[in-house]
Amino acid sequence: MLSNLKPQAPDKILMLMEEFRADTRQGKVDLGVGVYKDPQGVTPVMRAVKAAEQRIWEAQTTKAYTGLAGTPEYRNAMARMVLKDVPADRLASVATVGGTGAIRQALELARMANPDLTVHVSDPTWPNHLSIMKFMGLPFVQYRYFDNDTRGVDFDGMKADIAKATKGDIVLLHGCCHNPTGANLTTDQWREVIAMLEKSGAVPLIDLAYQGFGDGLDADAEATRLVAASLPEVLIAASCSKNFGIYRERTGILMTLAENTGARDMAQGSMTFLNRQTYSFPPDHGARIVSTILDDDALRADWQSELEDVRNTMLGLRDQLASELRDLSGSDRFDFVARHRGMFSRLGATPEQVQKVKDDSAIYMVGDSRLNIAGLNRDSVPVLARAIIDAGI
Ligand code: LMR
Repeated sequence: MLSNLKPQAPDKILMLMEEFRADTRQGKVDLGVGVYKDPQGVTPVMRAVKAAEQRIWEAQTTKAYTGLAGTPEYRNAMARMVLKDVPADRLASVATVGGTGAIRQALELARMANPDLTVHVSDPTWPNHLSIMKFMGLPFVQYRYFDNDTRGVDFDGMKADIAKATKGDIVLLHGCCHNPTGANLTTDQWREVIAMLEKSGAVPLIDLAYQGFGDGLDADAEATRLVAASLPEVLIAASCSKNFGIYRERTGILMTLAENTGARDMAQGSMTFLNRQTYSFPPDHGARIVSTILDDDALRADWQSELEDVRNTMLGLRDQLASELRDLSGSDRFDFVARHRGMFSRLGATPEQVQKVKDDSAIYMVGDSRLNIAGLNRDSVPVLARAIIDAGI
């Protein structure tokens, strides 16, 4: 039986991670996988996370199962962090295995509710969105999103394509910090998208993996809150991997907003069922860290201040890179780097140019020219800027 298996296409981002590890060149720079690194190249455990872990270790007397949906403390704390004003009569939620688990459960749920749905997803998007849908056999189409000339959002193209979504389809949107481009909608553009979804009855699925990495914890949730307050049905897949730096703990949540309490209860039952079928109980440790932090004023304040430092470090690197490139190119054509938000920017370079940067300078970007800003530091920015110009980007 096992010999019948076919080789699977490797994930491009994870493959790049392996390639980087195997590179023996001094001074190599990893701008691939979306993991925050401090100026020393370390992905730190945040202070509040350490403190919360200590409290959990001291207080925890059992490792017995929690609930299939996760703990109420975690789900409530996350609902408040993402939505602020929580519409309890409409909200159902389950803890998931990371943000990826939340995306997968959201798509499973949507298909249970509407077996004929098509998912509309941005071009480009996080490669794993496409890979999961292909694996599930879920029909999807890509809507135009990135304008390679301006390196901003092709909003007219996006609207023309989203207009094709029909009632019961899913439109997957990045709540903030678009991955892989770094180009995001303005609030007015979000309003236009909302009006279109209101008209068509297509349901938004918001992927919120980088809250706190763009313009701030609340600012990054603004679009999600607007969508939640405006539309009858909304699915939200949120991740704590990046903003709490707890990547390997696999901490995520799927939240759904329904039109009424009856539909909410049905959604809650189905989401809990999906957890049971897929992995039974969701992981608890990361979720407990998150609720311990969010429910304690001092820990929360410390976490938020460290998250702000992370965010501001990335903004500083963006400004530095844009300015180096302005000097080297004698033009403002790279200023988009400073306008983009979140962990990533897409340079709009060809795969050959990306390869040249890797070969000549040991700087690793994803093949679509996505670079992880947080993989840089003040010393590597000028090296990258030089390599970008030398590669003819
Ligand atoms: C990324 O886009 O690099 C991250 O979300 C990590 C991953 O799992 O791909």
